[in-house]
Amino acid sequence: QLGRASTPVLAGKKVVITAGPTREDLDPVRYITNHSSGKMGYAIAEAAVAAGANVELISGPVALTPPAGCAIHRAVSAAQMHQQVMQNIADADIFIATAAVADYRPKHLAAQKIKKNNDELTLTFVKNPDILKDVANLTNAPFTVGFAAESENVETYARNKLASKKLAMIAANDISAQGLGFNSDRNALHVIWNGGDKKLPAASKTVLAEALIKLIAEQYNKNNS
Ligand code: CTP
Ligand code: CA
Repeated sequence: QLGRASTPVLAGKKVVITAGPTREDLDPVRYITNHSSGKMGYAIAEAAVAAGANVELISGPVALTPPAGCAIHRAVSAAQMHQQVMQNIADADIFIATAAVADYRPKHLAAQKIKKNNDELTLTFVKNPDILKDVANLTNAPFTVGFAAESENVETYARNKLASKKLAMIAANDISAQGLGFNSDRNALHVIWNGGDKKLPAASKTVLAEALIKLIAEQYNKNNS
């Protein structure tokens, strides 16, 4: 065989990735969740493995098989996902938060099934920890990449998240776009970092994941060489 394969772009790097939704229990039979399928996160994990990384995939409840070659850690609630990330983040080089973490959880977890005794039901929610923000604020934080799911003002809101959460990079997706994003096999991303940006047009999540991992590796290697 002629030539030699070049060194993979993330050879030996530890990459921690969150994926999928979280599920917040209301009572023994009910929960609050969202439409995240985990497909984008799993595709990114697969692309990171292919790029030579040691991948720790922290996954919410999804109906997907983890990519070969990555370590899988399961979480159900946002609190559990936060705990799993913090247990695995030490010495990580890169953190990619693709999970659709529930922003709030019910204030009270009913010990018994809630009965339909009233015509109206009011629930009170409390805020969940922001996993991405907490990782970005660690001393010796890894190169931290967030996602921004927006239904309007996509670029403005994404740039605000990049700055306010102190991220290295953010991948914005317009969830109002037809047939893209949540629960779809396709997506489009506007990737923004300090000093540049790139639009990755609509494509399969597999193709997008490879392009995103390439961009992450470029910026990571620029900052750490
Ligand atoms: N995220 C997280 N932990 C949370 C909420 C969000 O790690 N409790 C991460 C997501 O994985 C994503 C990024 O933060 O990478 C942005 O999530 P998004 O829902 O777009 O933004 P929020 O900061 O939650 O703000 P809002 O929902 O109000 O737009
Ligand atoms: Ca949110």
